[in-house]
Parts: sequence; structure tokens; C-alpha cells
Amino acid sequence: MKDGELKITFQPAGRSVFVLPHTSLVEAAGLAGIILQTPCGGKGTCGKCRVRVLSGRTSAAGQAAGGPLTERQLGDGYRLACRASAETPLVVEVPEESTFGAHLQILVGDTGEKGNLNPAVHKVHFRLPPPTSEDVRPDLARLRDAVGDVAVPADLLTEIPAFLRAHGWQGTAVIASGELAGLEPGDTVQETYGLGVDVGTTTVVGTLFRLADGAERGLASRMNSQIAFGDDVISRILRIRENAGALPELQHAILQTINDIIRAVCQQSGIPPERIYEVCVAGNSTMQQILCGFDPSALGEVPFVQVFDRAQTLSASRLGILANARAPLYVFPQIGGFVGGDTVAGMVAARLDRCERPVLLVDIGTNGEIVLSHGGDMLAASTAAGPAFEGARIRQGMRATVGAIEKVIIGEDVHINVIGNARPSGLCGTALIDAAAGMLRAGILDSTGRIVLPEEAPPGLAPALRARLQKDDGHARFVLVEADETATGEPICLWQRDIRELQLATAAIRAGIHLLLRRAGLSAADLGAVLLAGAFGNFIRRSEARRIGLLPQIPCDRIRFIGNAASLGAKLVLLSQEERRYAAEIREKTRHVDLSGDAEFQAEFAEAMIFPEADLDACSDH
Ligand code: FES
Repeated sequence: MKDGELKITFQPAGRSVFVLPHTSLVEAAGLAGIILQTPCGGKGTCGKCRVRVLSGRTSAAGQAAGGPLTERQLGDGYRLACRASAETPLVVEVPEESTFGAHLQILVGDTGEKGNLNPAVHKVHFRLPPPTSEDVRPDLARLRDAVGDVAVPADLLTEIPAFLRAHGWQGTAVIASGELAGLEPGDTVQETYGLGVDVGTTTVVGTLFRLADGAERGLASRMNSQIAFGDDVISRILRIRENAGALPELQHAILQTINDIIRAVCQQSGIPPERIYEVCVAGNSTMQQILCGFDPSALGEVPFVQVFDRAQTLSASRLGILANARAPLYVFPQIGGFVGGDTVAGMVAARLDRCERPVLLVDIGTNGEIVLSHGGDMLAASTAAGPAFEGARIRQGMRATVGAIEKVIIGEDVHINVIGNARPSGLCGTALIDAAAGMLRAGILDSTGRIVLPEEAPPGLAPALRARLQKDDGHARFVLVEADETATGEPICLWQRDIRELQLATAAIRAGIHLLLRRAGLSAADLGAVLLAGAFGNFIRRSEARRIGLLPQIPCDRIRFIGNAASLGAKLVLLSQEERRYAAEIREKTRHVDLSGDAEFQAEFAEAMIFPEADLDACSDH
């Protein structure tokens, strides 16, 4: 492998990333925020990850003889993104059907049939015959005969007679869940939009859809403005517990963020906010409750009680959301403790209860959420991994932003990849995992988590690695980048204390997984798949995460990235009432396992602090 990065540009999104040579196209796309479908787990047999290389050269056609791509497709530049890797700078076209979002075809079908596209809000255009002496039906009966037997709220009833006479007895009725939600002049049936929102602790993502056909019309993301009140949910809950006026302040902050997103998607699409007739939100328990204005204080102490479990429907405009005055705000059901609506949304998107073999859904973050589905039963737990994966409490740690080392490969020497093609100024969580895994393999980190002292280094250690092993105040440190190559002029190192933080974070997730498997009478070998959801999960290298014990010891082809599953779940419930009922069903059949104070969990946690000795096959993540 040569040093020096390659620019990969993905079309039609127009997003570019810089990666090391031999980075797989699946991984490069992931770095660009484009999650490709990988149903065969990257074996090169399903063909679902196909992309088209418009310029530049990849390592190979990306498939074995008899693979899914035809000779003609290969000649046209198509490659299997899971198998082909970058050899030169590339421009790559990503067909819509290769993206994970194409899962939405469940709704609209390949042939364009409507499937179960059935949003809670729809419109009916009507032309009514004016009253005559032979036809003296009341105004409301006349309207109902045309649009269906809808319930009519009293305040709208007072507007109906004047509306009908002012607009020549025609117009468009907005109907939300069987109730009249407005009358509009003219035919506005096609102008019916909804917004799906994934409210994360750090980032909020909103997608605007046309409800009539499910077409995506805009996408925007923003940092959650609540960041000003603390990085993680615990600090925000504490703030609310300690300050009487903090809840409205935090609620206002998230509403502002959602409104910023609405302004952005409306500007992109030229659609006015009043044409947004429903907003569907999936977020963790704390985010959902603050958004609704419900006090999350009880989540700040054992036994971590939520305010609600079933889905909530509120008035978006009354909360101050920029949308149609009568638009409802749907908030996902929650399972218990810190297992909230984003987990339910992910379970909906993954069809988690319908898997033939046991499956784990894992969302790794400050709080790790873990769901085990087996034989139709589902167990869910959350575990406090702490902020190490976000770079916090790591001496030179940082979030995954420009200047962060996001990838470390340890061979004969250390190779790194930095976000934004900049000089490195620190390392983010994925690099921390990579570095620890590489050090374990090189024998310079032992299974107890101790970085070996220079004099204890294994005899066969490559000289370049040996030179990076240094002693600092009696402890060893491992130099990832020398001072003259960094943005700060200081070397970037992995310190003994960083490894301890990584062990704590890893052990929390690992012990949670073990405990759920044990409660279900299963072992890791029984798992048909581990699905990685969430922003962090989609960027980790599977074999590296498995090497340090963060993921179970199963072959990589059973560990799959499923992208932003919470966003996808929010889209699904926005576009289909059946999906909404399915979300309710999922909540009903999932049992929450409270790990706090569980003696068995404590024992698992202590054991999980030790890194695994063994390593399985390498994955094609590099
Ligand atoms: S061919 Fe199946 S994931 Fe690439």
C-alpha cells in the first residue's frame, strides 16, 4: 500500500471523500454518507451493491467468474462495490437501487404499484353541485358525499359554508386519519408533503417526502442545538433536573433545529412549509420527551423511567414547528429506559421480528442500544458506553470532523486516513478501535489492555513500529503520527489511559450483548446476523471492532451495516399507516431488560474488560 490519498467522488450526490488506496468502494461510499445495500454481506454474490465507475481504475472487476454482473455491465464500468477497491482517483455513479434507502421499494414496489403506500394524511379534490330547490342537502352532507364520511372538528365546521360559496363549490379536502384537517382552494392533491425526522443527541436529519407517491424532495441535517446544554443525554437531563426553566429552553433548542431543517428542505424543493401536513419523529427517549415538552428527569436516576411508551400524536404548529397549521406531529413509541423511538424505528426498518435466525441490532453511541430477535421474541437493552467512541475522555480524541484521524492500519508501519484531507489534529472513535485492534495483532497491546513497554516489545516487531513505542512517565505510549506531520506540532499518540477508556466503552456493549444472548439461551455462534445501525456503527471496520470484542466473534459476512435505520423507520411510518401499526406491534412484543444494577451484567462487564485472544477471518472493510 502506498501513502497518499485518493479522491473518490460519488454521483449524483456530488459528494467527495479522500481515502487510502485499496479502500473498498462500499467503505468509501459510507464515508461519503451513502450506505449501499449489502444483503450477501460483501461476498460478491448478490450484485445489490453495484455501482458504475465513470472515471479512474479499481482493483478488479469486483467479482469471481459467474458473478452477478454480466459481461456487458462490466464493459459499461459496473463494479461490485463490496469487492472493488480504489486504485486511482475515481468518479463513481451510484444507482438509486443500490442504496440502502431503496428499501423503500417495499412501499412503492418495483413496478410502480402503490404497495402499502398509505399515509395518514391524504387529500381529495371535490366539485360539489350547488344547492337547488330540488337538492337542499346541508353543506356538510354535500361535502361528505364527495370526500367520504370524515369527522369534522367544530372550528372547521364554522368555516365550511363560507369556503364553499367563496370558491364556487370546489376545492381540496385535507384528511388526516379520517378527520377533516382543512379545505384548500383549487386542486392541491399533488402538493401534499410530510417530513421524517431522526432526532439524534448530536445530529438531526430531516427528509421531505411527497406523500402521494413517496418521492423524496429534500434532505437536510443540522447539529442538534441542544449541544450548547451538554454533549450527551445525561448532562441534558441533569440540567433539567437542576434548573426549573431548562426544559422549555432545551425544547426550544430542538424545535429551532427542526425548523432550520424545514427551511432548508423547503428552499431546496421550492415547497412552502404550509404544504407539510405531517411530521414523524424518531429519537432516543430523552430527545423525544424533551421535544414533546415532557420532563425526562426520571431517566436521570435508577430505575430510569420513561414518560410514555405508546406513540404520541401532538399538534406540530402548537409546538411551534413550521408546518401546516393542522399538521400532526407523530412521535415513535418507546420500549423502556434508554431504549427509545429511534430503536423502534430501526426495528421497523430492519423487519427485526421477521428474521429466520437470531439477529442482533446494535446501535453504538454514548448509549449503546442492543436488541436481540429470536423466534419472534425480542429483548432490548441499553448500556452506557460513555463518550469514548465520540473521542471524549481520549487524550487526543475528537469528534469525526475535519482533521480527525478516522482510520488506522497497522502493518509494517502505521498508515492513517484523515477526514477532509487535512493535517491530523486528533483521532476519532473509529481510529481508536482500529489502532487498538492493530496493536493487539502486533503484540504491543496485551489482552488486559496494557501497552507493552519498549523493552517488552515482541522480538519480531517491525522496526518502524518499535520506534513508535515510547515510554512516558513509566507508562508506554504508541505514536500514531509524528509531531512534524500534525496540525498542532505535537505528536498524536495512543496513551495507556485511552486504552482503559476504550475497554470501559467496549465492555459495556459487549457485556450487554452477552447478557441478552444468555437470557435467550443462545451463543454468538447462533446469530444469523448482527445489524449495525446509527452514525457510528456505519463507519467502524467490522474486523477491527470484532478484534477488540466490541462485536461478537462471528464471520464478517454476518455483520451488516444498515445505514441510518432510524431515518428509514421514520420515512416508513410517514408513508404508511400499516407501518405505524407495525411499530406499535414491535413495541408490544419487545421486552425491555434493565441492565442497571443487574448482578449478572456486572459480572459480564468485568469479564468483558479483557480483550479477546482470538481473531477470525479478516473482513473486506479496507
Ligand atoms: S455483491 Fe452482495 S454485497 Fe456486494
